[in-house]
Amino acid sequence: MLELKTPGEIDAMRPPGRAVAAVLAAVRAAAQVGTRLHELDEVARGVLRDHAATPTFLDYHPSFAPTPYPGVICTSVNDAALHGIPDGYRLRDGDLLSIDCGAAVDGWTGDAAITFSVGTPRAGDARLVECTTAALRAGIEAAVVGNRIGDVSAAIGGVARAAGYGLHTDFGGHGIGREMHEAPSIPNDGRAGRGLPLRAGLVIAIEPWFMAGGVDGYRIDADGWTLRSTDGSRAAHMEHTVAVTAGGPLVLTDGSAQAGHHVVTA
Ligand code: MF3
Ligand code: CO
Repeated sequence: MLELKTPGEIDAMRPPGRAVAAVLAAVRAAAQVGTRLHELDEVARGVLRDHAATPTFLDYHPSFAPTPYPGVICTSVNDAALHGIPDGYRLRDGDLLSIDCGAAVDGWTGDAAITFSVGTPRAGDARLVECTTAALRAGIEAAVVGNRIGDVSAAIGGVARAAGYGLHTDFGGHGIGREMHEAPSIPNDGRAGRGLPLRAGLVIAIEPWFMAGGVDGYRIDADGWTLRSTDGSRAAHMEHTVAVTAGGPLVLTDGSAQAGHHVVTA
């Protein structure tokens, strides 16, 4: 069952989107050489409190995981792509850090992720981050009325393949609204022109994650959560919550001056 949101409901998704954007900005600023990952989780909790937002990741317990999720953010370092648990690890110069955050305000949710280097970027990381960002951008630009889910998926996958990066269709994007995960799912690769037609009012989280080694495999740590590249290569993950509207894609988790503005496509 696929739920379309009214313009008023899309407006109600702006506050959780802003809260998530604020968390990501604060965590990015706090992530210095020597900072422990659980300190970043504390920063995130404070920002959510300031925004009267509740975390959606905390205690989330999907069927694939052995335990409820213990943090309000995911902190995935270097070869970890997704779902890294904020623990006592101290960030080191050149670490590639992905932060994912979900939040709810007044019953509506937002979900977004960023990846950045701590200190001096290691060779190759900037290109990986730029490419994942470009794939997110391409996916957003494909999120227009008249396109289909497959167009968003193909836009993302095409960027990864052109760059020679590894990608996987597990743990892709998803519908989002009152629930963090709603129909439909948005795989990070697919065939253009296929799948569900995009209609105004569909709100989706688009979240490419790529692995630099060009190998598509991943494995899960003994903690049951942390997802790493099988070849040990570094990974990046970028995510925005986006509304498909008659006026074009509307990014709800953009913390920049452009927040809440329509993305101009073509
Ligand atoms: N952005 C991720 C997703 O959509 C966040 C889930 S992390 C978890 O699945 F901790 F909540 F599992
Ligand atoms: Co998500």
